[in-house]
Amino acid sequence: MSKIMLAPMEGVVDYLMRDMLTQVGGFDRCVTEFVRVVDQKLPKRTFYRLCPELQQGGKTAAGVPVRVQLLGQHPEWLAENAMTAVELGSPGIDLNFGCPAKTVNKSKGGAVLLKETDTLYRIVRAVREAVPADIPVSAKIRLGFEDKSLAIDNGLAIADAGADELVVHARTKTEGYKPPAYWDYIARIRQHIDIPVIANGEIWSEADSKRCQQVSECTDLMIGRGALALPNLARCIRYGEAPMPWAEVADLLIRYSGYEIFGDKGRYYPNRIKQWCGYLRRQYPQAEILFNDIRRLTDAQAIVDVLARQSSQNHVA
Ligand SMILES: Cc1cc2nc3c(=O)[nH]c(=O)nc-3n(C[C@H](O)[C@H](O)[C@H](O)COP(=O)(O)O)c2cc1C
Repeated sequence: MSKIMLAPMEGVVDYLMRDMLTQVGGFDRCVTEFVRVVDQKLPKRTFYRLCPELQQGGKTAAGVPVRVQLLGQHPEWLAENAMTAVELGSPGIDLNFGCPAKTVNKSKGGAVLLKETDTLYRIVRAVREAVPADIPVSAKIRLGFEDKSLAIDNGLAIADAGADELVVHARTKTEGYKPPAYWDYIARIRQHIDIPVIANGEIWSEADSKRCQQVSECTDLMIGRGALALPNLARCIRYGEAPMPWAEVADLLIRYSGYEIFGDKGRYYPNRIKQWCGYLRRQYPQAEILFNDIRRLTDAQAIVDVLARQSSQNHVA
């Protein structure tokens, strides 16, 4: 049976979203938003903030393991902080070599390292040597920075350095998030290395997942935006389940209002629900209507009222 991972998405897939989506189900693993490592050992609270699941055995409430993701350029500091994450209970370490953000690239880390095959090797090796052998270390890459010429070399370096798994987001940094994803390139990397390769990018439906598996020659998949657009996408892929009806999505959106982030002055829910609507629009025309109805609302209860009204109309219909 193929494995399905929930992709890390900074500012989107946080603890609460991981909790919700893994309760919907179909996922084998999650990855946190990145912990940025520069030149120091980070305090424990940084890890707990980005990965509250560490306080519950490194798993979501639904029991899905969550791997801490690190981003940075210094092998020693990454290794040092990987050890902290593991000491706090992270069931694995994921290394981010794909983040396109400018500020990240200026201080190095993320996709810019795809131009430095040797640095990738040194980072993976340092982290692999630092953490216990039974703790998996994965790396997440894009196909390159500006072009794909180093895609295979980078994959080889990461595998040679001892990574246990490689996730490939099938685009360069320059290609951003623009379709298509070049799944055939994942197959080329896979043919050269013998660690499991996980295919990622542009999987929005069960049909996409099948085509991605065929073209990438990978059985294991990672899905990000697709799971936000269609909350039961992992179950559609795994069990051939039908897409979740809008009424159930509306119930999920209401349930999400029960979550609170301490100290955020009530802005968390209104902001996040609008953001989530942006993804849901791709699958559900109702999300567009909802977005327009709540666009100006800044109060969680007012948004829940709109949702409840819509939801009761849906149930009657
Ligand atoms: C808003 C946003 C935030 C992201 N944050 C991260 C991140 O923190 N770490 C990472 O490795 N990838 C990050 N990604 C990339 C995703 O994990 C994934 O590789 C990409 O979205 C392609 O997969 P998808 O088509 O299934 O969404 C982010 C993507 C988006 C859209």
